[in-house]
Amino acid sequence: MSRLIIVSNRTPGKGPAAGGLAVALRKTLAERDGFWFGWSGKLVDAPEAEARFEEIDGLTVAQIDLTRNDHHAYYAGFSNSILWPSFHLRLDLATIEGHWYEGYRRVNAQFAKALRPLLRKDDVIWVHDYHLIPLASELRHLGLRNRMGFYLHIPFPTTDALYAIPHHNELMRDLSRYDIVGMQAQRDVAAFTEFSDHQSPSSLSGPPLKSVNFSTTEVAAFPIGSDPEAFARLSVTPAATKMVKRMERAMGDQKLILGVDRLDYSKGLPQRVEAYEKLLANNAQFRRNVHLLQVAPPSRDTIKEYQETSDTLDAMCGHVMGRFAEPDWQPLTYVKRAYGQPSLAGLYRLARVGLVTPLRDGMNLVAHEYVASQNPEDPGVLVLSRFAGAAEIFEEALQVNPFDTDETAEALRLALEMPLDERKARWQSLMAAARRHNIDNWATSFLGRLSPEAAQEEGGA
Ligand code: G6P
Repeated sequence: MSRLIIVSNRTPGKGPAAGGLAVALRKTLAERDGFWFGWSGKLVDAPEAEARFEEIDGLTVAQIDLTRNDHHAYYAGFSNSILWPSFHLRLDLATIEGHWYEGYRRVNAQFAKALRPLLRKDDVIWVHDYHLIPLASELRHLGLRNRMGFYLHIPFPTTDALYAIPHHNELMRDLSRYDIVGMQAQRDVAAFTEFSDHQSPSSLSGPPLKSVNFSTTEVAAFPIGSDPEAFARLSVTPAATKMVKRMERAMGDQKLILGVDRLDYSKGLPQRVEAYEKLLANNAQFRRNVHLLQVAPPSRDTIKEYQETSDTLDAMCGHVMGRFAEPDWQPLTYVKRAYGQPSLAGLYRLARVGLVTPLRDGMNLVAHEYVASQNPEDPGVLVLSRFAGAAEIFEEALQVNPFDTDETAEALRLALEMPLDERKARWQSLMAAARRHNIDNWATSFLGRLSPEAAQEEGGA
């Protein structure tokens, strides 16, 4: 079987996103004698051209360093101040600095240059996420003919939002250099099809750009998942139970509503707190009986829009506390810190409501992990944004429009009052969906399409 090479901005052990992926791909990488390639997390004045190999948690990882300037333009700049807000339909939060695009391309070229000499003829390359859209073009430019796949972990934008991105046509041409482009949801494939069916508008800087030819690229939805069995086991380990006991001592009979999200404007945190405020305002019976715990580890906090989201949330939580807290009761706890998976699994299991209300999200694995951690005899209720990719998977969740805080408040009321029979019935179907869409199936189906054998079958058909 051909070797598998995974490429992502962060490598295992270097951030939250790589964590779940690393667990899922560890076995496949070992079986296929492959390695993981990415940024080392180090900023230096003069990076070496060659990658350094290292073993991290049983995985072979090859890494390169970046200069501070390049990293800023590529990561905080083009990736997270242009692509991230635009792909999440928050053009109002995008900042456009022309030179960031050059930095973004420079880093992709640097990745390609360091990766190229490590590759063999039959290797299959799987590139992850929006930081690395141009990588296939850069590698093809260096003569690579291998099968290459790209997986977009975040939503694909509407055509209008895409047109607002500088150099969008070049980026789409870059995507067309992959053999397979995987997306999270049917919604994303539909948005992509709309783009590819249209001509690009003319631009001031040159003649109208021709539409990009995607005839050799397969674009399809491969919804990512979690490892539900592992989470179910984790939720009853001593480490998880310790957290459950600690919370039970602190909360008594109160029902817990739980949110766990990176502190990111796409997660709809202010709207969530507003919905909770409405729940308490309209339903006096819940005061003293419920508690909202929002866990929100800081993220990308050098970017102004992230700092502002953090400030807004501070103010809103303070406001709800001032309005409803009593000397012996607090309506909410807001924690800006990351917790390990065992503690989270315990919190998920204890929570009567999993509140997952992003304004827009690729998939949202918190929804999967919450479902997997429930006690089958007394499960909680998932309140889920219909704008998360997970909404296509979890039809039995209480789905809400996160912009409509009245609707979310009403869903919270229904969830808190839902009888045990209905909770069980809904949970069983959610858990079945989490099992069907587990992360192993995700990797296997994507890699199945990416394999050279799949290409031959297509050619022969
Ligand atoms: C999302 C993205 C990932 C990213 C993660 C954490 O899940 O899809 O690519 O790694 O957020 O963000 P960060 O900027 O800290 O890597």
